[in-house]
This record gives sequence, structure tokens and C-alpha cells, in this order.
Amino acid sequence: MPNKPLPFPHPITLAVDIGGTGMKVMALDARGNPLTERLREPTPKPATPTSMLAVLDNLRKEMPKCDRVSVGFPGVIKQGKTMTAANLDPAWLGFSLKNTLEKKWKLPVHLANDAAVQGYGAISGRGVELVLTLGTGLGSALFTDGHLCAGLELGHHPWQKGRTYEDYLGRRGLKKYGKKRWNRLLAIAIEQTAKTFNWDKLYLGGGNAKEINFKLPLYVSTISNEDGLFGGVALWRYQATQT
Ligand code: BGC
Repeated sequence: MPNKPLPFPHPITLAVDIGGTGMKVMALDARGNPLTERLREPTPKPATPTSMLAVLDNLRKEMPKCDRVSVGFPGVIKQGKTMTAANLDPAWLGFSLKNTLEKKWKLPVHLANDAAVQGYGAISGRGVELVLTLGTGLGSALFTDGHLCAGLELGHHPWQKGRTYEDYLGRRGLKKYGKKRWNRLLAIAIEQTAKTFNWDKLYLGGGNAKEINFKLPLYVSTISNEDGLFGGVALWRYQATQT
């Protein structure tokens, strides 16, 4: 008699990664294994809550039935609200994203900064670990023994000539300065973060991590773009220990 297929371990998480350029979703089982492909749609312009939520609704229709939702958002999150959104429409400032999605999709939602979610999917949970995401913006998340120091926005820290780290290392910087100079600047920034945060490990993620063309120092590694979604399950685990 053929074996009955085992059901996927529940709860199933719908992991959502909201980006300045693309919006991605994937369903994950309780162990964080993917149950679907990663679906991506370009971020609409203007990138308002209304236009972006419409894209998310469509992406969700392509996904299996899920039990809960994790969302990574490219800005500061406080009490389920999106407090900043440097690379999206200002209509996001103070928007109740957690409540809106919970009402719309009738599922519990955890919401965190995108670099933090990416970090949850990548860190070892030991020592000081810094995650930098090289995408439209420059994301940053700092963990000590697996605990997030919420609210770090290194991308918006001034660096040189009145410009911020994000101005140099985000998508606009890559375009403006070109790949060679962007790589040189990134190498300098890595050294700077080592002196500032004394990390034991540094992870570089985001869509532009593939543009890195120099040998990374010891204890620095790149992480896959999928980590932005895989962290969705770890985000639930972490939040559970906080309540
Ligand atoms: C935002 C961060 C975000 C990063 C990457 C920055 O502009 O301020 O919160 O993590 O972009 O998306």
C-alpha cells in the first residue's frame, strides 16, 4: 500500500518582503522550508499603501492557504505602524500596516523592518552579528546573541560630504558612482562598521550583493535574497518570546 503523503507541518507562514523595487511572497512550512516558489512583482509607482496593497492582494491569491503572515518592510516599524519609508511614498508614514493586513486577510500578522527579517533568516544567534542589505536602500540590523537592537538605520547616517551611507551604497549610489567605486566604498564601509560595532559576523544581503567583486574579509559573507523571506518564520519564533 502506498504511504500516505505527510501533511506539511503547520503553521504555514505567508512570508512577504516589501521592497522599494520589488514585492515578493513565498509560503513556508513550520520549519521554514519553502512550500512555493518566490513570486515577485515590481513595486508600483507611486508606491502608496493603496497601490502596494493591491499588488500584495494579487500575489496572495497565488499562494496556498496560510495560517499567519510575516512582513518585512523597508522602514522603521513601531507598534505595527510604518513610521518611515525613505524609498516609498510618504503616505506610508504612520500607516497601520499590521492592522490593515490582519483585517483584510483575516490572519495574524507580524511586521518588522526588512533587514531585521532578513537577519532572522541568516544569523547564528551567537555574538554580535550585523546584517547590511544592499538594495534600493541600505538596510541594517544588529543582533547580540540573537536579540535584535530594533531601530538601527545606518543607511541614513551621514558619511562623507553631507551624504549618507545609503546615498553611496544604495541603488542610487551604485548607479551614480558605478560598480568599481561602489565596491571600493563598500570595502571602506565594512571596515568602518567593524570599528563601530565590533561585530563577530557581518552578513551582506539584498539584490545588489551580487555586484560585490572583491574578496570579502574573514567573517563577512553574502546571504541569499531568499533569506529576506526565510526569516519570516524566525520572526514569529522571536516575537513569541517577547510576549
Ligand atoms: C530604510 C530601512 C530599510 C532599508 C532597506 C532604508 O532606506 O530606511 O529601514 O531597511 O532602506 O530597504
